[in-house]
Amino acid sequence: MAAGTAPQTCANPRAPSYDPAVNDEHLRLCASAEWAELVERVLLPWALDSRGPGDEVLEVGAGPGLVTDALRRRVPRLVAVELDGPLADALRRRLAGTNVEVVRADAGALPFSGGRFSAVACFTMLHHLPTAATQDQVLRELRRVLRPGGFLFGTDGMDTASRRALHQDDVFVPVPPDELAGRLRAAGFSDPEVEVSGDRFRFLAVAALQTPR
Ligand SMILES: C[S@@+](CC[C@H](N)C(=O)[O-])C[C@H]1O[C@@H](n2cnc3c(N)ncnc32)[C@H](O)[C@@H]1O
Repeated sequence: MAAGTAPQTCANPRAPSYDPAVNDEHLRLCASAEWAELVERVLLPWALDSRGPGDEVLEVGAGPGLVTDALRRRVPRLVAVELDGPLADALRRRLAGTNVEVVRADAGALPFSGGRFSAVACFTMLHHLPTAATQDQVLRELRRVLRPGGFLFGTDGMDTASRRALHQDDVFVPVPPDELAGRLRAAGFSDPEVEVSGDRFRFLAVAALQTPR
């Protein structure tokens, strides 16, 4: 995945106008043993907070797939969505024959029917969306594909100098954690939880029983 590569044909015709590619150093970090360890031991247990994600889980912004790997050991079926074509293709090849289906699509316009998933995972992805409006559209879309009572969970990073440096030439629009609960409610979620630890935060919110119109 080269920086500057435009998104090619997307599974959804409403492809976004921005390039989701992340720079090479960032990509190496997201594919490293160090990141796999952090995801498995810290980020995923923290985000799930002892909840079971259920029988059919969606992950958005899968990237090289280290969250996918940790998650797929905990769920019967996982659909992993990634917008970047080469990353989606590589992950599809790597996980062929497993309990994971990899779909190239935009998390803001998902090619799935409403109410399909028991839970949706969104790790280190929201800050890769180019505007707050795009982030809010993704939150609404994640709410749409959740079953009533299902939940969204994930983690993201705060706006720090080192994280800004890592995102050189990447999209980087950090979500202020103190805004997130309100934005989750506006997207149709209930009972939002947002917890900060160090320079990261976790979030979890339940799909309200009534689908917003
Ligand atoms: C920093 S990576 C995180 C990868 C993985 N979630 C992890 O934590 O290891 C963010 C990923 O989100 C993807 N992405 C950005 N915008 C997206 C969108 N609208 N829909 C789906 N994926 C998107 C990027 O291509 C990138 O692979």
